[in-house]
Amino acid sequence: MPELQVVDHPLVQHKLTLMRKQATSTAVFRQLLREISMLLAYEITRDLKLEMTGIRTPLEGMESGVLVGRKLALVSILRAGNGLLDGILELIPLARVGFIGLYRDEERLRPVEYYFKVPDDLASRLVIVVDPMLATGHSAAAAVQRIKEAGARSIKFLCLVAAPEGVEVMQSAHPDVSIVTAALDRCLNDKGYILPGLGDAGDRMFGTR
Ligand code: URA
Repeated sequence: MPELQVVDHPLVQHKLTLMRKQATSTAVFRQLLREISMLLAYEITRDLKLEMTGIRTPLEGMESGVLVGRKLALVSILRAGNGLLDGILELIPLARVGFIGLYRDEERLRPVEYYFKVPDDLASRLVIVVDPMLATGHSAAAAVQRIKEAGARSIKFLCLVAAPEGVEVMQSAHPDVSIVTAALDRCLNDKGYILPGLGDAGDRMFGTR
């Protein structure tokens, strides 16, 4: 079974609660998103490889860990995915960044691609695909498929809130892609929004409607 990790850290849960509240302003939502994305990035990179290297502290020599192995790439699913980038890049400033634009065909609730620009060395990187809401899973699964076609071999998916329907779609389409989320909510409504969710993540972070 592909891995689904719900990050139950109290700081993550507290920030998510504030983000869910209807009364939370755009400015506060954005600040919380930045903070929570750092905490989620911390979790999703937990299994990065370390190698011991000899260094000198001011007092003596020691062996200490440094990151080795695959470098990282983030791929944001436009537009809401962009809200997760700043916080993650603060922790991982050397990560390359790609973008995939998919709009939702509202009738069929299916993704249609309108933009695709990713680093050309995805095959040698751990690719973290970011989108705050894993709802129907169709956009996420289509984005991951496109990223695989562009060469990526090692992919993880990072979101804030997931619906069981979206998790199922992702896990059956991409059993090799583990998912890290702050919450697994109840279900989707008939418009494809997550319940209880937090509303339209893009609108809430950018102040649109
Ligand atoms: N996209 C959102 O922004 N929110 C949802 O609940 C579902 C999809």
